[in-house]
Amino acid sequence: MYKAKAYSASSATSPLASTTIARRDPSADDVQIEILFCGICHSDLHQARNEWKEVMPTVYPCVPGHEIVGRVTKVGPAVTKFKVGDLAAVGCLVDSDGTCPECKAGLEQFCPHPTFTYNMPDKHLGGVTYGGYSDSIVVKEHFVLRVPSNLDLAGAAPLLCAGITTYSPLRHWGVTKGKKVGVVGLGGLGHMGVKLAHAMGAHVVVFTTSPGKKEDALRLGADEVVISKDANEMAKHAGSFNFILDAVAAQHDINAYINMLARDGNITLVGAPEKPLPLAAFSLIMGRRSLSGSPIGGLAETQEMLDFCSQHNIVADVEVIPIQKVNEAYERLLKSDVKYRFSIDMASLKAE
Ligand SMILES: NC(=O)c1ccc[n+]([C@@H]2O[C@H](COP(=O)([O-])OP(=O)(O)OC[C@H]3O[C@@H](n4cnc5c(N)ncnc54)[C@H](OP(=O)(O)O)[C@@H]3O)[C@@H](O)[C@H]2O)c1
Ligand SMILES: [Zn+2]
Ligand SMILES: [Zn+2]
Repeated sequence: MYKAKAYSASSATSPLASTTIARRDPSADDVQIEILFCGICHSDLHQARNEWKEVMPTVYPCVPGHEIVGRVTKVGPAVTKFKVGDLAAVGCLVDSDGTCPECKAGLEQFCPHPTFTYNMPDKHLGGVTYGGYSDSIVVKEHFVLRVPSNLDLAGAAPLLCAGITTYSPLRHWGVTKGKKVGVVGLGGLGHMGVKLAHAMGAHVVVFTTSPGKKEDALRLGADEVVISKDANEMAKHAGSFNFILDAVAAQHDINAYINMLARDGNITLVGAPEKPLPLAAFSLIMGRRSLSGSPIGGLAETQEMLDFCSQHNIVADVEVIPIQKVNEAYERLLKSDVKYRFSIDMASLKAE
């Protein structure tokens, strides 16, 4: 066991602050990583503030962070894919049972016994797992990803959650050239959804509540941008989409988007608002439309996404911040004021 520096929340209402945490010494199949950058996902904020108490209550202290890139500092003797000095990345999963049909199919995100990167029982040290707002982490090799060398590291970190969470449903629902795809909410996930759907060849329409993001949306790869508060603009797209990705973090009217789907169209929720969303049955019934959700992605697909991003030169648009600005960043997330992901430069933790 060794001590690592970290930032943690000690209650749902306290700001994050500097602390030290215990990390395990790497065992045979473990990789130890010096964390260089960690993205700030809106899930970090939901979890730190216990907004998902009904589904996964927060255990304090909570060290968030599941968009991790860094450099390998030590490997166990059974590790074969990584050596000291390699770049490495970790997303939302650090373990699973490895034996269930989902794990065997490489779909670890659906394992009934997953270990998420933070706030899940830690099998090694007891207590709960601690995430990437830290200078170091130890993770089983199977859950460590290779980082393509052409990607900027600060911008690559958000691929580990925002990237895979949008890539996976776009692939699952068959987004390709010729498909009309909507992306609702231009935040961390949404802006990745736009870049990826554009790279897959789709006609991409962004729905945003923020008129000031229009130019950015076009630059990121959108073909059209709709200000969702404008009923006339919204009406123009009725019944026309093959697929819509809903990446909104707060309460909003999903029925307005369901009505924009073509026959057999699908809307997938990746955003996870605190409270249930009302659903109008007729919106789904007319047009045999479907509504689904999608969680992150498995390890194989996460690597596929990183390689796809390497090939298409895609990283997140990031605002790099020192860890000392994390509380300010959370407040800005709540105001939809981020272009388009905060990425923490973990060198800033050395000053603590
Ligand atoms: N399914 C998964 O596996 C998974 C993985 C990661 C994250 N998530 C969840 O996905 C959601 C988005 O995460 P994120 O990190 O992308 O968050 P984010 O950066 O804060 O982006 C959310 C966007 O939603 C829009 N929005 C915010 N409040 C709104 C409101 N009241 N009405 C309508 N639109 C609103 C804003 O876009 P505009 O300014 O363009 O309107 C905002 O930028 C969170 O709930 C997060 O927990 C799920
Ligand atoms: Zn996330
Ligand atoms: Zn499993």
